Amino acid sequence: MKKGTKLPKKITYSSYLLSLIKSFDVSADDIERFRENFHNEMKLGLCDRPSSLKMLPAFIDRPTGREKGRYSALDLGGTNFRIIQVRLDGCGGAREEHVGRFVIPSVVRHGTGKQMFNFIAMSVLKFANSHNIKFTDGKKLGFTFSFPMKQTSIVSGILVNWTKDFSASGVVNKDVVALLADSFKRCGMKELKVAAIANDTVGTYAAGALKDRNCDVGIIFGTGTNACYREKIANIKKLRGHNKNAHMIINIEWGNFDKFPANNYDARLDKETNNPGKQKLEKIVSGLYLGEITRLVLTDLIKHRFMFSGGKARFPKGSFTTRHMSLIESDHTRDLIKIKAYLEEQGIMNTNIAERNLLREISTMVSTRAARISAAAISSVVTWMDHELKFHHSIAIDGSLYERHPGFGKTITRVLKDLHGSKSSKITLKRSKDGSGMGVAIIAAVASDAAGTRGA
Ligand code: GLC
Repeated sequence: MKKGTKLPKKITYSSYLLSLIKSFDVSADDIERFRENFHNEMKLGLCDRPSSLKMLPAFIDRPTGREKGRYSALDLGGTNFRIIQVRLDGCGGAREEHVGRFVIPSVVRHGTGKQMFNFIAMSVLKFANSHNIKFTDGKKLGFTFSFPMKQTSIVSGILVNWTKDFSASGVVNKDVVALLADSFKRCGMKELKVAAIANDTVGTYAAGALKDRNCDVGIIFGTGTNACYREKIANIKKLRGHNKNAHMIINIEWGNFDKFPANNYDARLDKETNNPGKQKLEKIVSGLYLGEITRLVLTDLIKHRFMFSGGKARFPKGSFTTRHMSLIESDHTRDLIKIKAYLEEQGIMNTNIAERNLLREISTMVSTRAARISAAAISSVVTWMDHELKFHHSIAIDGSLYERHPGFGKTITRVLKDLHGSKSSKITLKRSKDGSGMGVAIIAAVASDAAGTRGA
């Protein structure tokens, strides 16, 4: 599906802009169709039929709030590998005690699986030594693995495919818990065992649900984007042998949804990525890609001599990121001096206010489309669970885009209001800072309680 991609024959500044704006527009009708298609794909995914939504059962339901003790989580999914130690007070409270951050070099993300898991094990060893932590009870460790994985239990996860900026070889179709255990052994930590593995959305959900019984969705808007929600087991047709009256969390993997219109810039970006044709929604919504889409638009405007005196300015690939968009869109000074300073740092001098304003408009156009599509996805999930919006739904959200991009959350809230009117008050978006790591420590506690052991 392509959208507004035809440029008029004689390209004037205003006709060019009009066609650009049209190609990034997400109308109410688009959202309606989006929702219908999303529901359809959810249904197919739950029956194990071909669908762009994988709908992966997470083998966990909500925490009780009574989880207690000290648990740790290993968090793999972005450019930083994190280790988090959490203290649960048994009354719904959770406190981060220690956090370790290790930048995963690109050669490791794109090397062999063995190198990557050794890197994780070595980082755990460093963290344990520097905080004098003894991981002697294997039941205290959770693993946040922020990629699509097929689970058959809470302690196994088979990688379906890599997403975002990862491609370590020899991991797809393997159980990542077993690969991690091998690395622990190689690094002399054979006593270290993972008690639970979960996607980052599932962790975010668990952190939200620990205190709030209405929490039934977890979302990440960060480097990538995805959501999970609480489903009745009776609706998970592909799952056999479980109590049909109970619930289970489903990792939707909505980043791969592809039944919505995309434009020429999306197609160009998609071709450049390491997973063309995949993660279509993620590529128009998430932090890893928004900067690049904006850069592609800017490069065209410069090429057509509509900006920066044409031709002189350059934005080479990789030079413009979502962080730059956040900086640009947060400039509310009269003369747009933050933008001016940013452009001067790039060697683009003597810009006029109209050009700086255009840069801000372009960035806002790209991020607003991302927020509108995000609202469409949220509305789809909530109306799937509760068609008439009869109940309250708290939505736990983590991720740098939601946390830091100016106006992103507000636009989502506004669109939900437009879509659902006064019933939008039934949907509460709640920031869950570091929920993805914290939540998987909570899930490790749930799993340990089920196994009859407790954290120290
Ligand atoms: C990607 C991954 C997904 C993860 C999301 C956010 O979409 O496939 O599993 O939840 O990024 O990190």
